[in-house]
Amino acid sequence: MLNGKHIILGITGGIAAYKSAMLARLLIKAGAEVQVIMTPSAKEFITPVTLAALTGNPVISEFFTANTGEWHSHVDLGLWADAMIIAPATACTIAKMANGVADNMLVTSYLSAKSPVFVAPAMDLDMMAHPSTTANIDKLRSYGNHIIEPASGELASHLVGKGRMQEPEIIVAEMQKYFAKSQLLKGKKVLVTAGPTYEKIDPVRFIGNYSSGKMGYAIADEAARRGADVILVSGPVSLRPAQPGVTVVPVESAKQMLHECENFFNTCDIAVMCAAVADYAPANPADKKIKREKQDVQVINLVKNPDIAATLGAEKKSGQILVGFALETDNEQTNAIDKLKRKNLDLIALNSLRTPGAGFGTDTNVITLIDKNGTVTPLPLMTKPEAAAALWDYLTENR
Ligand code: C5P
Repeated sequence: MLNGKHIILGITGGIAAYKSAMLARLLIKAGAEVQVIMTPSAKEFITPVTLAALTGNPVISEFFTANTGEWHSHVDLGLWADAMIIAPATACTIAKMANGVADNMLVTSYLSAKSPVFVAPAMDLDMMAHPSTTANIDKLRSYGNHIIEPASGELASHLVGKGRMQEPEIIVAEMQKYFAKSQLLKGKKVLVTAGPTYEKIDPVRFIGNYSSGKMGYAIADEAARRGADVILVSGPVSLRPAQPGVTVVPVESAKQMLHECENFFNTCDIAVMCAAVADYAPANPADKKIKREKQDVQVINLVKNPDIAATLGAEKKSGQILVGFALETDNEQTNAIDKLKRKNLDLIALNSLRTPGAGFGTDTNVITLIDKNGTVTPLPLMTKPEAAAALWDYLTENR
């Protein structure tokens, strides 16, 4: 899985840097080409000569080579990399990565990287448990970086607790697992809807809702990361997909969303309906701005919007998979199962507005997957990218 992959191995100044030599060796053995970038303090723990000899590539540490003035382009490195692994990642480098403090070659390359980034933290247990470290690690997770959780055991301080960098074998196995997953949806066409819809009242006003689009964008990105060709029909949101394999088709109203979904559904293998589609739209949107009238009550007549998921469910051909979401406030499972049947879905992801950390606008979600055979799989509180990954894991493992 790592054969021929270009991997940046970032090494920072922690005692676990001695394990990075073994990590470099294992990556090379797995067929990867490895470029090491060290922070200045990493060189206090392990010499660049060791890593240059193991990888066959000179180690990069500074922006310039002092005697020749040669410039190392972090942008080119970021584009070259198929993956980046920072091991060990100290609290300091994690904080810099979380906040974009680009004061060395490693963090600038991290900010330029288009590839997946793996981070293997290593530090003393109190530093690891400090709220600033946990908040920074959470931030990295929210950027889609993969955290390789440190192990518990005896630390360099002789204290015992969580903070030991994972063993190089485990790090390589995690990276291999990632690349294996990246093939799972290869050749598949995926349609995703995301965000709210805006239903025009007049040229300056609309009926909308609080959907941020974060869940749908995470689902689209994760599908593309696994090799799918993704069409993301998106209502108005302030997001952009992170993956090049996602094509955004912007729409505003439910009718437009249905029209675009109909265009693409026929040829897609899997469709995930994540949009918060307005149930009703103004019956007669005004061409001109509606002026304030004397009367205290203004009535807007509403008409029912098309149900996009149900329309696609009725058109679904054998082999196509249709997934919906249900955001509920009461009788959650009963309502979700009812929707699953009514819309002819294969799977529904239920999230309850009563669960803390779930629903609109948040960076996290708590979903329960219910499939058409009645299997109920509750998932714990996760970031939206993690929930998206869990949804795709379920779909690929249970097909
Ligand atoms: O019926 P309800 O709106 O709760 O159903 C939620 C599911 O149906 C979501 O997957 C949502 O994207 C989809 N839906 C739709 N078109 C609508 C309403 C909901 O595609 N008009």
